[in-house]
Amino acid sequence: AKNAAVAVIPAAIMADGICVIDNLPYIEDVRCLYTTLNKIGIECTYEDKHTLKIDSVNDICTKVTFDEVRKMRASYYLLGALLARFKKAEVAMPGGCNFGTRPIDLHLKGFRALGAQVEVNGEIVCVKAEKLKGASIYMDTVSVGATINIMLAATMAEGTTTIENAAKEPHIVDVANFLNMMGAKIKGAGTDVIKIVGVEHLHGAEYTIIPDQIEAGTYMIAAAITKGRVKVQNIIPTHMDSLSAKLIEIGINIEEGDDYITVDATDADFKATSIRTMAYPGLPTDLQPQMAALLSVCEGTSMITENVWEKRYQYIDELKKLGAKITVEGRVAIIEGVKELSGATVEATDLRAGAAMIIAALNARGETVIGEVKYIDRGYEEVENK
Ligand code: EPZ
Repeated sequence: AKNAAVAVIPAAIMADGICVIDNLPYIEDVRCLYTTLNKIGIECTYEDKHTLKIDSVNDICTKVTFDEVRKMRASYYLLGALLARFKKAEVAMPGGCNFGTRPIDLHLKGFRALGAQVEVNGEIVCVKAEKLKGASIYMDTVSVGATINIMLAATMAEGTTTIENAAKEPHIVDVANFLNMMGAKIKGAGTDVIKIVGVEHLHGAEYTIIPDQIEAGTYMIAAAITKGRVKVQNIIPTHMDSLSAKLIEIGINIEEGDDYITVDATDADFKATSIRTMAYPGLPTDLQPQMAALLSVCEGTSMITENVWEKRYQYIDELKKLGAKITVEGRVAIIEGVKELSGATVEATDLRAGAAMIIAALNARGETVIGEVKYIDRGYEEVENK
């Protein structure tokens, strides 16, 4: 899972020992973190394409302001990890997909609640603390990144921290499990109240990252739009519940095993439906573009409400080039289903939008050419082979 990997790797910095993390996706975001860790003095080596060995015993530079860091949003986890262990950090503001403003005010509010001084000087976020003290923190907005970042910093604070209205995504549970393997004392990850009893020090650990619910969902939707029958394996079916329920509503057959889901759309009638993106366990916003591609060829009128990001419809213009009939009003997209899409030249406007272009192109008659596929490579390993 990309969004577990990009948090677990920074978390490994907190151990004064060796961590071995496997089942990592071999994607640009992970390679970017690999480079970053080596640049700040950590011995980070690829044991194989999917396994990193991270040895952060020697002294580490806590000023992380070079280009790699600006490329991806998850760089902000370096703040929480370095603040936890070294009580200071300077990190360049994160980049990442452009869905309008992507503030990190909740991250910084959490660090302040734990006793850190926080300053934002232009592009650089500086945090430091004499010591970190446990606190009770209520999240104004459910935020994956802020929940994880505060959990990182609280892990090595003195005393107990509770995070209320916490995000519950599977990757948050994964980070908490990894931290506990290193000796942290975290309870309640995956619920909306996470309790952390601070510890002095974390030791190294071996850890296997969970499967990626968004990658799995992408392939399930690709199977649906091609009227195929596909078994998506090595996944955790319960992580897919919101998507499976929607595909069943559309008329697609779903069969679940303990580590696979078979999507059978061979005789589906593709009825229109409506979706609302939500924090977990709701339908993930990261599957919204992919679902829009599928709904473009479902008979009738479908509606999408994007509740997480203020601007996540930039890809709609590209879908329209393929013949989709969609109008956008603020956070709502109205889709009139068409019989089938037709090939055209389109662009990936961001990571999941790129995945949506692939899904639409699998249905479109004739050839489709997708530009800017570098976005897709940020989050999908060898998507064309898979
Ligand atoms: C993570 O982003 C994911 N990225 C995103 O996936 C995903 O879309 C998002 O969670 C929601 O699931 C990574 O994990 C690296 P948030 P994150 O904080 O943590 C607002 C992908 O395709 N907010 O849960 O940045 C924010 O503006 C990427 O893999 C604040 O207002 O998302 C948004 O409206 C795209 N202040 C809402 O909360 C803050 O300090 C949820 O954002 C933080 C967030």
